[in-house]
Amino acid sequence: MEKNVGSILEVGCGSGLLTLELAEQTNSDRIIGLDLSGDMITLANGNLERRSKEITEEIKEFWKRLPEFCKPKQDEYKKLEQNPPLLDRIKYVGGSVYELDNVGLHGINYVVCRNALHRFQHPEKALKQMYQTLSPNGKLYIRDLRRDANWQTVLERIGERRWNTQTLVQDYVGAMASMLTTQELEKTLQSIGLTNFEITDGRYINGEIKNPDNIKEYEKDTEYICVIRK
Ligand SMILES: C[S@@+](CC[C@H](N)C(=O)[O-])C[C@H]1O[C@@H](n2cnc3c(N)ncnc32)[C@H](O)[C@@H]1O
Repeated sequence: MEKNVGSILEVGCGSGLLTLELAEQTNSDRIIGLDLSGDMITLANGNLERRSKEITEEIKEFWKRLPEFCKPKQDEYKKLEQNPPLLDRIKYVGGSVYELDNVGLHGINYVVCRNALHRFQHPEKALKQMYQTLSPNGKLYIRDLRRDANWQTVLERIGERRWNTQTLVQDYVGAMASMLTTQELEKTLQSIGLTNFEITDGRYINGEIKNPDNIKEYEKDTEYICVIRK
């Protein structure tokens, strides 16, 4: 993604970790994470505060190591305390993808939706809403699991721990059934009049990075990436 990106909206942001990454990797000064679950918004706000504090400490540590003649003055420390990193750039909002216009979100340069489309009961309505939120020339990035994925990889990726409780199993099985194949996604997009899009496989930019369970998180045969341009 280019550095100077304008505004970013992550729909179905969950814990907000991707939103944080988007903020740290770009210079966008308006980043919104939206999620239906109040618990997720609370979690995301907690993660934002924690990361902001970490960066503040990293900056202070860096300043400490500077030679005396270029150490920042006391008021620089005050400014840092008064304007903690990230807090003025990221806002987490509770709400549904179907009500994006009700929460006053429009003219967004990049809308990102990762591993959430299969959680939306009406994907076509959700896609329409997210597209409408874009500014002219804006882009909508969708990344999700494919229902026709390599299931061995998906099962490994989910990890045994998640199969231990009935509620989680029910939740996952339901979610899996709602995933789209790339052909279904293509048809859904066409059915709502969207034609300027590209669907590719989900190979991560650094395919060698593994998650804590030692599984490649973004295996090519389990996910798709879809970029829709306005
Ligand atoms: C699997 S999580 C993905 C979290 C995040 N995008 C990530 O990749 O780490 C899916 C999220 O979608 C949210 N969600 C489900 N239905 C939604 C809706 N109608 N509108 C907004 N968010 C929704 C859930 O609350 C959940 O946090």
